[in-house]
Amino acid sequence: MPIDPAGGAGNPVTDALEEVLRRAAEVQSGAVADYIPELALIDPELLAISATSVLGHQYSAGSSEAEFTIQSISKPFVYALALADLGVEEVHSHVGFEPSGEPFNAISLDPAGRPANPLINAGAIVTSALIDAPTPQARFERIRSVLSAFAGRELQLDERVYASESETGHRNRALGHLTLAAGALPRGVADATEVYFQQCALLVTAADLAMMGATLANAGVNPVTNVEVVTSEVARQTLSLMTSCGMYDRAGEWAFRVGMPAKSGVGGGIVAVKPGQFGVGVFSPRLDEAGNSARGTRALTLLSQEFELNLLEHHHAPASPIQELAVTASGGMTVSLRGEIDFIAVEQLVHDVREAAGGDPADASSITIDLTAVTRVGLAAARLLTAAAAGRSAWGSTVQVVDPSHLLAVALTG
Ligand code: DON
Repeated sequence: MPIDPAGGAGNPVTDALEEVLRRAAEVQSGAVADYIPELALIDPELLAISATSVLGHQYSAGSSEAEFTIQSISKPFVYALALADLGVEEVHSHVGFEPSGEPFNAISLDPAGRPANPLINAGAIVTSALIDAPTPQARFERIRSVLSAFAGRELQLDERVYASESETGHRNRALGHLTLAAGALPRGVADATEVYFQQCALLVTAADLAMMGATLANAGVNPVTNVEVVTSEVARQTLSLMTSCGMYDRAGEWAFRVGMPAKSGVGGGIVAVKPGQFGVGVFSPRLDEAGNSARGTRALTLLSQEFELNLLEHHHAPASPIQELAVTASGGMTVSLRGEIDFIAVEQLVHDVREAAGGDPADASSITIDLTAVTRVGLAAARLLTAAAAGRSAWGSTVQVVDPSHLLAVALTG
């Protein structure tokens, strides 16, 4: 079969996703959530997986256009909006940073009276209430518009699921009252919980979740619309919390088996992220006892193994940043670098220059570091190279940096 570059059948990535789904479908355990009555009406056999790269390439298998409610997967994206609006200190004066080790709907406040983190229900109700807007309706619209920007399309509210949770969500109201009593909830309980129920009832597809994850993977920029939804700092902070708290009382096993920041929802979706590479969305409505999609968990476990997506796994030595190292007749040295120069690239440069100079770079009369073939310099690397060029490094010889694209200045000024 010819390879379809657009990601259809015959594309090796799509075929691999199909195979992951086929194996995930062997999981027969789990039950559709019914504590929100309307959720029980979904077809339990629906199954989908989508992956979107940071270059905006999209791949899917199964019912990737089937819609379901986002539920708790809304939480990290609303947390990102709260961070963008208020900053870390203000947000975290209301909610903690720590995994609770307890179920998503646990009655859990830390010793300071704050919910343990923004991804359990108590913390998510507080976080949602922190979003600034003149009315509850306007607050929901802000949330809807930011989640839509993450997804790259306008997301709609499922009125029936919202009404169903609003009629039955007394435990969440109780959490609202507890957080209000503790001084963590910044507004009234009814106001806070209704908007929270609405954010949970936004309709998404597995493909939407993949795009939302890809936006976090891509430092906050949606890779298809190119809109910067949040800053790279907020994207990183959000991924940190997803790593430690995204899978509730399964966060530890998830880190062990899957090793990707993730967030699940009782609608059956899970979003997972490989920073700098992919966002992945999966959907299958039957949930395990922790409220995470059973087949979705299996699919992401397989995917992480087959695609080597575990953050903590590393199979290869770092690529050498050195394109060419030439010793000149006068005893000087010219080193041409290539690709992305980060901290370990500079470490390799220093090591290799030292070795070429017979153990002491001061023995080279001058060192020229040529960045012409470099695509990007990281901040730490830029600081080290600038210090070397200014004579503030241990290299006794003169260091000159050739930087026609001003990559050092770009890195240093952000
Ligand atoms: O607050 C609730 O109970 C739901 N709206 C969301 C819970 C949820 O998705 C838990 N995640 N797996």
